[in-house]
Amino acid sequence: MSLVSLKEIAEEAKSKQIGLGAFNVVLLDHAEAFVKAAESAGKPVILQLSQNAVKYHGAFEPIAAAIQECASKAQVPVVTHLDHAEDVELCRRAVDFGFTSVMYDGSKLPDDENRLTTAKVVEFCHAAGVSVEAELGEVGGKNGVHDPSARTSPEDAAKFVEDTGVDLLAVAVGSSHAMTTRGAVLDNELISRIAEVVSVPLVLHGSSGVSDEGIVKAIKSGMTKINVSTHLNVIFTTEVRRFLAENPEIVDPRKYFKAGNAVVEAEVRRMLTLYSCGK
Ligand code: G3H
Ligand code: ZN
Repeated sequence: MSLVSLKEIAEEAKSKQIGLGAFNVVLLDHAEAFVKAAESAGKPVILQLSQNAVKYHGAFEPIAAAIQECASKAQVPVVTHLDHAEDVELCRRAVDFGFTSVMYDGSKLPDDENRLTTAKVVEFCHAAGVSVEAELGEVGGKNGVHDPSARTSPEDAAKFVEDTGVDLLAVAVGSSHAMTTRGAVLDNELISRIAEVVSVPLVLHGSSGVSDEGIVKAIKSGMTKINVSTHLNVIFTTEVRRFLAENPEIVDPRKYFKAGNAVVEAEVRRMLTLYSCGK
């Protein structure tokens, strides 16, 4: 069985000071490309499905089943992860469905409520052997507006992990979601200070906006799970546009998706290798 718990592979990666790649699945093609890339790189991979992607499909089960099936047939360890779930009932459905990890995102809630609800999610997830990621200090850009200004306090982060029992913590250190350019500058000093006092692996959201060099430095400073989505959409769409411009007679989506999927697969293979070696 190639399905593994996020806690298990993240703790191992943290102890080796290497990074893990977590990529967002929007379509079946993403799950297929990410697994192929991980197999050819010989690395574990995290397939993540966001609450927004569930909304796009209009239902959780069809796309979740595709992810679970791709993961369970893989030749490398794969985590199936619910990403940015603000809905506790969706977390329960992911657990019942067999996902091995859940991110409960209560970062928009008042602090007390975020802690209480996260602890409740941890209780039912841990009872089923499912890992839990939470977020403290809202990482910007979820509303489409680029904002890298939020910062997580190391002391708050340590207390949050103690209060809730989460297995991984997403922190705000200078990245912002949905950036289509890679110029975000991370606060590596803050990453190191958080990693010193927080016992669990740390998660970088909005990694699309960070350069390769910036991500490698963040991993060296103590970051473990690296979430990437927009960057892959940028290269997929650029390739599909190029392919259709060169082949205007093509109407079969399999042909232009094949071209787009190939660049995504190659880039995920490269990123998985970069994160796990720091080279
Ligand atoms: O949870 C998903 C990520 O944080 C992806 O963010 O689209 O900016 O890479 P991104
Ligand atoms: Zn995110």
